[in-house]
Amino acid sequence: MLPLLAPLLLASLHLSNALPNPQATTEDTLIILDKGVGHRSTPVPRWRTSLRRLSPRGTNATILTQFEAATNATQRSEPINAYALTYSASTSTLFSATGQGIIRTATDGSDATLILQEDSSEAGLDKITSVHVAEKEQKIYYGTQYQGLIKKADLDGSNVEIVLNVSQGLNLGFASPSYKPAKFYAGGIVVDEETGWLYWSAARGDKDGSIRRAALKGTDGGEEQHQVLASGINMPGQVRIVGGSLYWVERGRWSNSPTAIKYLDRALLALPATGTSAALATGTLVHASQSALFFEKDYTGERQTLGIQSFVVDRREREMRVWFVVESSGRTMFGKLVRVGWRGGGRGPVFEVLNEDTREVGVPVGLEFLR
Ligand SMILES: *[C@@H]1O[C@H](CO)[C@@H](O)[C@H](O)[C@H]1NC(C)=O
Ligand SMILES: *[C@@H]1O[C@H](CO)[C@@H](O)[C@H](O)[C@H]1NC(C)=O
Ligand SMILES: *[C@@H]1O[C@H](CO)[C@@H](O)[C@H](O)[C@H]1NC(C)=O
Repeated sequence: MLPLLAPLLLASLHLSNALPNPQATTEDTLIILDKGVGHRSTPVPRWRTSLRRLSPRGTNATILTQFEAATNATQRSEPINAYALTYSASTSTLFSATGQGIIRTATDGSDATLILQEDSSEAGLDKITSVHVAEKEQKIYYGTQYQGLIKKADLDGSNVEIVLNVSQGLNLGFASPSYKPAKFYAGGIVVDEETGWLYWSAARGDKDGSIRRAALKGTDGGEEQHQVLASGINMPGQVRIVGGSLYWVERGRWSNSPTAIKYLDRALLALPATGTSAALATGTLVHASQSALFFEKDYTGERQTLGIQSFVVDRREREMRVWFVVESSGRTMFGKLVRVGWRGGGRGPVFEVLNEDTREVGVPVGLEFLR
């Protein structure tokens, strides 16, 4: 019943009783997927969807590559948008889920290749909202928004298969009878290849998001076989397994509701293998109420809450470091890169805003740590 990351952090920091040592080798790199800016924003002009590199201190921001729409010149200047980023360490490859589909690149942004698109005949190109690479299986798992499916494919985008239908039914309430989007879609995905479980966040609207899992082995037993691990979540996004427990981003809705990083207060190995609603206690790693960094005023003076979009954890020996990116893309675009440390004695997190220049950080939707 112990929260795993927090005690680990506290334990490690108790030794030094200070913020994590910011030392990192020069090869360590943070990669940001920036969705781009498609309208005139103050004080930021428009720009294309891009991959960016920063040092773990938030310095030396570089645009690695910009993605272009593969159509005519007018469209080429528009951002293609983006939703999620993942890194495959075994192949040293980045996968960016963009408005055009999944784009594979080398870690320096070169060799950009559009490896797959999801066409749903009714809604045109389906949004790919989450991506994850299962390194042993050498497959990319991804979630689609309109159809509410989790699929997998080879790392070159071939051999696409449906893994799970996580739609929880179709939304029939639209005026057009042919437009029937999924009620829920995977806002984040992670495969635990050791134990054979697939975890995802089921996203939709206010407070009705949840964290779920299903066994990978065997056929899809249907939604009645999907375990609900946590519920009542406001727009859940990315999920990661860290230190044997599950962490997720609660993005918050629009620009006025709290954002957080939360975790299951139970080791994944200790979860019951059956039973559809485990209703586990959850813990909060980071919450918008803990710092002013989550709030900005747009150029009209209206207060915006920046939403956490993605986080990374670097663990080496006893040391553990967490970074996250926040953004708000209303009238004014804000993007920030933040590092978190924990003081000993159970006191709250200490935030260090490493970079809050939106022109350097972009409007971040994905963050990866390369070592
Ligand atoms: C960052 O930029 C500075 C100044 O240009 C340079 O001296 C330093 O080596 C760079 N650091 C990295 C990690 O690239
Ligand atoms: C470019 O594409 C857009 C959208 O499809 C279209 O409206 C526009 O007319 C096209 N422009 C040219 C020059 O073909
Ligand atoms: C997914 O499940 C829903 C019912 O929950 C169903 O209506 C829909 O057709 C299924 N999608 C696919 C691709 O099988």
